[in-house]
Amino acid sequence: MVNVSRRSLIALGAALPLLGRLDWALASPPVPTSDKVLLNYNESPYGPSPAARAAMQLGVGASGRYPYKDLYALAEVFANQHGILDEHVMVCAGSMAALRYAVLAFTSETRGVVMATPSYEVPRQAAEARKAPVHEVPLTADHAHDIPGMLAADPKPGVIYLCNPNNPTGTLTPTKAIEHALASKPKGSILVVDEAYIDFCDAPSCVSWVKDHDDLLVLRTFSKIYGMAGARLGLALGQPVLLEQLEAFGGHNVPAASSLLGGRASLEEPSLVPERKALNTLVRDETVAWLKARGFTCTASHSNCFMIDVGRPAEQVIERLSAQNVMIGRVFSTWPNWVRVTVGNAGEMQRFREAFAAQVSFL
Ligand SMILES: Cc1ncc(COP(=O)(O)O)c(C=O)c1O
Repeated sequence: MVNVSRRSLIALGAALPLLGRLDWALASPPVPTSDKVLLNYNESPYGPSPAARAAMQLGVGASGRYPYKDLYALAEVFANQHGILDEHVMVCAGSMAALRYAVLAFTSETRGVVMATPSYEVPRQAAEARKAPVHEVPLTADHAHDIPGMLAADPKPGVIYLCNPNNPTGTLTPTKAIEHALASKPKGSILVVDEAYIDFCDAPSCVSWVKDHDDLLVLRTFSKIYGMAGARLGLALGQPVLLEQLEAFGGHNVPAASSLLGGRASLEEPSLVPERKALNTLVRDETVAWLKARGFTCTASHSNCFMIDVGRPAEQVIERLSAQNVMIGRVFSTWPNWVRVTVGNAGEMQRFREAFAAQVSFL
């Protein structure tokens, strides 16, 4: 049985001098949780980095004022890091809000959403709420977005949604295919590329493309690799003409100063992403190898979640693990026998393996 121990984490740090010591992840203050192992929302087990926590404390004192100065400062840091202009950055209280606003802004009862299945459900839910049609196109055999199929699904969609890496599978769509989607989609349809999980993988980001395209929106979040899900901080990147249309829905519903300061501190900590990415990859790949050694098929994830084919209604497995205080899931309706699992820390994945192993005879 593959085991992720403290020793193997430190060995990884030694093997990758670039990353320095990885035991910070074990030493950082624990994220307050219950005794449940929470592998069901693709959150980070590590929480905000120590530098982000310190910056967030300063934000508490600054909370008597509207936080626009901190908002513009965060936008400027992100823009400089990605070679875009400040005016291309909209800061919002979580990227889910920006995604909903995009669907509300660019769809109607006659112009719908085209998206993959399984994928993140929010665009579908937002479209349904405004009675816009939704076309869901199955992922390809290797679990990429089927770009030709998506382009053929609707001659004039309002939004084409592409999640890369995809939630829930963690799988990638090649950059060339995304370029093709942008070049070939109908004029007037907005391509939304959701990069919530891009920092966990080696794939290039599309953020810099927004300089040259007024029909591309890229979404980022601080909820995943930066461990700030509860702080509600996300970004929409696009040309001002697009962002203005999102602002009509919730442009002034901005995050708190502490979130903005914590987000900026995270961006300014160059070792944070490579360290967490390496740790996530190590723990994820060991867990997947353990499952494969027991005959289970898993998606080829490049993210902090993956799916397992459990060969029976996945709800049953979720219930059985939940009875052992290990929370996984959810199930996505077009893949009823697969369950999503978030990559937790080494100890949490040990608990997951123990709970899952106890079910193997059932499976
Ligand atoms: C693909 C994707 N986009 C957006 C979000 C929402 O992120 P936020 O917490 O920034 O609203 C999530 C959260 O799980 C997600 O999986």
